Amino acid sequence: MGGVSPPDPSSSGAGGRRGSEPLPTGDAKAVAVQGMFDRISARYDLLNRTLTFGMDVAWRRRAVGSLDLPASSLVLDLACGTGDFCRELARSGYRPVGFDFAFGMLAHARTDAPLVQADALRLPAADGGADGITCGFALRNVVDLPALFAEMARVLRPGGRIAILEVAEPSNRFVRMGHSVYFSHVVPLVGGIVSDRAAYRYLPRSVAYLPDPSGLLELLRGAGFARPRRLALSRGIAQLLTGTRA
Ligand SMILES: C[S@@+](CC[C@H](N)C(=O)[O-])C[C@H]1O[C@@H](n2cnc3c(N)ncnc32)[C@H](O)[C@@H]1O
Repeated sequence: MGGVSPPDPSSSGAGGRRGSEPLPTGDAKAVAVQGMFDRISARYDLLNRTLTFGMDVAWRRRAVGSLDLPASSLVLDLACGTGDFCRELARSGYRPVGFDFAFGMLAHARTDAPLVQADALRLPAADGGADGITCGFALRNVVDLPALFAEMARVLRPGGRIAILEVAEPSNRFVRMGHSVYFSHVVPLVGGIVSDRAAYRYLPRSVAYLPDPSGLLELLRGAGFARPRRLALSRGIAQLLTGTRA
């Protein structure tokens, strides 16, 4: 697995420290993330719903709505986890296929969509064969964000759409303070009781990997997405990134 090395700002955006220990990068990060999601997979859905007060369901619905593709379009859900996006995509008349590298998450998935164990940075998918891509709460987990966006661009046809959800830091100072207390203290506490303490301490810290909003849009533009947009959700605690393959 290799040790935990200091953050590398060039690999996943901001990178950085949000606590006493450095966050892992490179292969060490990928192995740590995969193992962590395997460990927390059994309680993942329960905690997701509880800790977001069910808002994650509405966020995915909004993201799928933003795709605005014809019925039966093929939509790849990257880092699909337990299949929430796949279910929402199917409900909206799309043909979803889920990809995730943590077998535990796939094993706990509740969806009829085909699921593939694969690294989102090296998708077993043809060039230009997909109409759309969704990706939920995985940007901060990948080792190389520009490579992820490039892989999305590779598998999408021209005119294909992306809808990416991620956590965010609210711009309002007071909302940010309240959210920070919740995310940094309540989430690890509840997550530690119900599931895995180390994992739910890591999750809030991993926000440090995310580039700021303009940096994210710049990366999408650079990967070949026209008119990338960012929408703040629920007072800015989450964000939806959309774009069209040029
Ligand atoms: C926070 S969960 C989100 C799951 C799901 N998208 C959702 O909305 O609930 C992050 C997921 O990303 C997956 N993941 C992280 N890096 C990945 C990679 N490089 N390739 C494939 N899956 C990855 C993890 O295994 C985990 O299932």
